[in-house]
Amino acid sequence: MNSQNKSARDRLVLALDVNTLDEAKDLVYELKDYVGVFKVGLQLFTSVGPDIIKMIQGEGREIFFDGKFHDIPNTVAKASANLIKHGVTFFNIHTSGGSKMISTTVKLSKETAKSLGLPKPTILGVTILTSFGQRTLTEELLITKNIDEYVGKLAKLGKDSGLDGIIASATDVPKIRKECGDDFIILCPAIRPTWSVVNDQIRVVTPADSIKMGVDYLVVGRPITAASDRVSAAKLVLDEIEEALAEK
Ligand code: C5P
Repeated sequence: MNSQNKSARDRLVLALDVNTLDEAKDLVYELKDYVGVFKVGLQLFTSVGPDIIKMIQGEGREIFFDGKFHDIPNTVAKASANLIKHGVTFFNIHTSGGSKMISTTVKLSKETAKSLGLPKPTILGVTILTSFGQRTLTEELLITKNIDEYVGKLAKLGKDSGLDGIIASATDVPKIRKECGDDFIILCPAIRPTWSVVNDQIRVVTPADSIKMGVDYLVVGRPITAASDRVSAAKLVLDEIEEALAEK
């Protein structure tokens, strides 16, 4: 999935961080004209199950399944194949599961999609969770390497093992582009338009700046979902992405 020709809407990933199918439906029905991809994470999936997938597919929208799989190669590969059987071909796994876990998953995912006549899957890697800093990495996991170098190393491991892209903060884009090239997809959370509140995010970037820095997909949650007028908020984000794309 090369993102270069994608529209602003196709690049906007809305985080469905809610607990119930009804809340998710409200968001999808209201925002589907402005959002290309809806992100389903563990919170929603463990509450609602595969019904959430059917609902979003029924509205003609793409799903990014944020399940961050991390287990032995056989388990991650088979869980990924099961996602694909549900028609979900855009999802993520942990790069720290290692090259065998990644390559086994990529191979079985491609085979499964092909056998079902589905598009080639787009599998992204998670490097270090943003809840980790240098201190916890070193003290708890005994990883003494500089955290930025470690993120770069894991991104490269993902690329070399067959992943299509990575989840990263916009500030990591130059390093990832250098390690992994221009075709490697970068999906970036912690997006905050200048008019929104930062909430609990730390290194935030505006939609325009993230596009200028080379991000392919922008994950936005609360700036849209918690806005008093969600449609207007989504339109503002889209306009900002469109303008930045036009200037590129
Ligand atoms: O509401 P907000 O825009 O902060 O939501 C961001 C979404 O991106 C959430 O679903 C969150 O779990 C996810 N995310 C993140 N930071 C990361 C990885 C994922 O905020 N490093």
